[in-house]
Formats: sequence, structure tokens, C-alpha cells
Amino acid sequence: MTLRPYHQIILCPTRVELRAAEGTPLRDLLFEQGVEFPCGGQGRCRGCRVRVLAGKAEVNRAQQERLSAAEIAQGWRLACQCTVESDLEIELRQWDAAILVDDTPFAFRPRPGLGVAVDLGTTTLVAQLLDLTTGKVLAVSTALNAQARYGADVMSRLHFAVLGGGQQQLESLIRRQIGALVEQLLFAAGKQGAEIADVVVVGNTVMHHFFCGIAAEPLTHYPFEPAEDGMKTFTAGELGWKLAGEPKVRFLPCLGGFVGSDVLAGILAAKLTEHDDLVGLVDLGTNGEIVIGNREGLLCASTAAGPAFEGAKISMGMRASTGAISQVSVDHGALRCRIIGDGSPCGLCGSGLVDAVGAFRARREQLDALAARRPYPERHSRAAVGQGGDCGGNKAADREEGRGGTHPPLPGGRVWQLYRSQQCPEHRLDRFSAGEGRGGWQHGAAGCKARPVQPGC
Ligand code: FES
Repeated sequence: MTLRPYHQIILCPTRVELRAAEGTPLRDLLFEQGVEFPCGGQGRCRGCRVRVLAGKAEVNRAQQERLSAAEIAQGWRLACQCTVESDLEIELRQWDAAILVDDTPFAFRPRPGLGVAVDLGTTTLVAQLLDLTTGKVLAVSTALNAQARYGADVMSRLHFAVLGGGQQQLESLIRRQIGALVEQLLFAAGKQGAEIADVVVVGNTVMHHFFCGIAAEPLTHYPFEPAEDGMKTFTAGELGWKLAGEPKVRFLPCLGGFVGSDVLAGILAAKLTEHDDLVGLVDLGTNGEIVIGNREGLLCASTAAGPAFEGAKISMGMRASTGAISQVSVDHGALRCRIIGDGSPCGLCGSGLVDAVGAFRARREQLDALAARRPYPERHSRAAVGQGGDCGGNKAADREEGRGGTHPPLPGGRVWQLYRSQQCPEHRLDRFSAGEGRGGWQHGAAGCKARPVQPGC
């Protein structure tokens, strides 16, 4: 038996060092580091791009189709298509992720000590260290949810937990990761070893169950009711966290099957229950929720939003990280894009996609309006409508009907029927028999393929 040589792999920018046997799929290694593979590693989405800074990684056919020659020359590869062939130093595109955080003021009751607030998202973790006396945010720490290697959305993670028997694995993974984030916060704020008074965690119902160790099976089928949706309290020690002060860690209660305490936090922060008018809150994360209501009551619905807008089903879809087109607009007839990080565009995130649809529609309406203002001969020159051609304004209809369509009303209010004929009606082809038309054919300067018909014909 021949032993395969081992190679060293360095991940940048964190300089994490790994060792792997030659031939190991890079995907397996990066999964362990929380890297996402949005299309499931099928080489379709470009979401797993890495840049080889040193060492070699072959370019297969899928990569040639998905990466430009310039990208390949610069060392970009699709990690899901590569195996370990030599020592490697690679830069992870996903670790450029810009995770949005802010320190908007909020109402709170001052008390002594330090507190930690954690938003446990399906994709992203954000933790803040707060001075509970002033409410000031002392440090922020973010990371991709390490569970993402077992599925980009909650349904695939539930599948892994319940059918794959992996719930215990997901639980220890996320508990360990949040514990490490809290330590990072203390380090970043220069408060290593300081006592923490309180830790509060929010997240969707699936994350709640995974973190708290509650059986997630009821969430996989109708009526999708959580086994337990109340607040769960632990000590730091119970979670395996070594924190001074042995703080209580509370995971706030869920609101429903797929409406978690992250929505509850949003409702409180946006003060939805203090309004007389109807107000709405939209949280378009990997799991998306919409809440509408006022002080008399609230209604909420949720769905898998991220994978729909940013994941595997959109060929250029990507998460809202560096290089994602996040806004598209039409400015004086030209399309304008905003790219997160102001670099080169790599794909479209959800907001960019929704914007792009709106912008293309607006652009089309502008073009239609322009076309309607141009004089008839210009719109239906011989080149456009004449022999062998079709009307530029009606190409779709022509294709659909295989012969022509009705053009928008022209000056004089007449409706014109256009045909994809090779000859003018005076020399009409067989299929346009003499009795076919109503209103007769017109042969004029504008071309010889249009005939006026009565509106409604
Ligand atoms: S996960 Fe590699 S291209 Fe989609």
C-alpha cells in the first residue's frame, strides 16, 4: 500500500494552518472551517471561489466555464472542484464578507458589568460586548455560522440533524463557536479575564433548538411546531465556556415554528407594538420574516429567503459580501450598480437582484416610451419590417405566433397586423390566401408586410 504524502494548507487572511493527504477534496477541508458551498459543490455558482497565493491547483472544465481567463491567471479557483496536490496558501473570498452591524442607541436599564448580545443567524453570527452601565458597544465580532457546511438553509440543516443524525454535532459546533466569539470580544476590547454579567442569544427557531439541545424533528413536518419554544437558560460552564463570573446565558423564546427570537428582538427594537398605525418589519436573512401589525396585535410569516435570492438557483447569485452588486438603478437611461466593497462585481445578492428586476423594467418602459415617440417610417423601415425582417417592437409576438403579432396602435388609431413573410402581400405566400385578411393589405413606403385590421379583429 502506498501512503499518500501530506501537504500543508494555509488559509488567509487568518493564517489557519491545516494538513491534508494529497488528493483530499479542498471542499472537505474548507467545510470544516465554515466555508459555504452554495450550489452544493456542483461548480455552478462561483460561491466557493478561493485564490491560490502559493502552490498549485488544477483548473478543470467546470472552472474554465465559470471563471474568466483573467481570474484563472490571477489564481482564482472553485474550491469545490479542487483537490490538494501540493502545499497551498489560499485566500478565502467568503472571509471578505462584510457583515453589517451597527450600534444604534436603544432603551435599556443601566446596571453594572459587561454583557454580551449574540445574533445567531443561519448564515452569520454577530456578537457584541456591551458596557451595561452606559449601553456602549465595546467590541463586535462576526463569523459565518460553522454549521453552514451541513447546509446553507434551515431545511437542509434539519435534514442533516434529523435524517443524518447530526443534531449533536450541530449543537457542539455552534456552542463552541459562540464561546470562541465571546473570548474574541473580550480580547478585542482589552478585557481578557473580565467578568461577564449576562449573555443573551437570539436566533430563529431551528437555531434555538440546535443551540439549546432540543429535538428538532417536529420542525421537519407539518404542523412545524417547535418541541419547546420558551426561553432557555444555561450557565457558561454548562456550555463549555470558560468565562469569569460564570454568567447566565439566555436564549430568548421563539414566537412560532419558524419565527424565532431574532424577530422578537427586531419587534422590540423597532417598537412595533407602540404604533397605532399598521407598521411592518422585514428581515430578509437566509430565513426571511415579515411582521405586520400595531399595538393591537402582530402577524408574522417566514420563508427561506436567502437561498431563493442569493443561493444556488441564481447562477450569479451570492451573499451580500464583498463584490456583490447590492443596488441597481437607472440613472438618465444608464444602469448603475453599487458593489459592496467598491471592487469588481462578482455576483448579485438578494437586494441587487430585486433592484435589477425593477431597473430593467424601468429601462424597458423608458425604451418603449421612446420608441412610441419616434415617427412611423423610422420604426418600420424596410430594414425593420421589410423582406425577411420583422417589427422590432413585436419580435416577441412574432416568435410566439410564428408569423406576426399586433403592433401597438399607430397614429390614426389603427391596429396593424404584422407578418413574418418573405414577400409583400401583393406577392403573398401560399399561407396567406386571398380571403384571409380583414381590411385588406397595404403596400406602402413603410414596408410591405403590414396590413391594417379592425381593432378587435
Ligand atoms: S459551491 Fe463551488 S461553484 Fe458552487
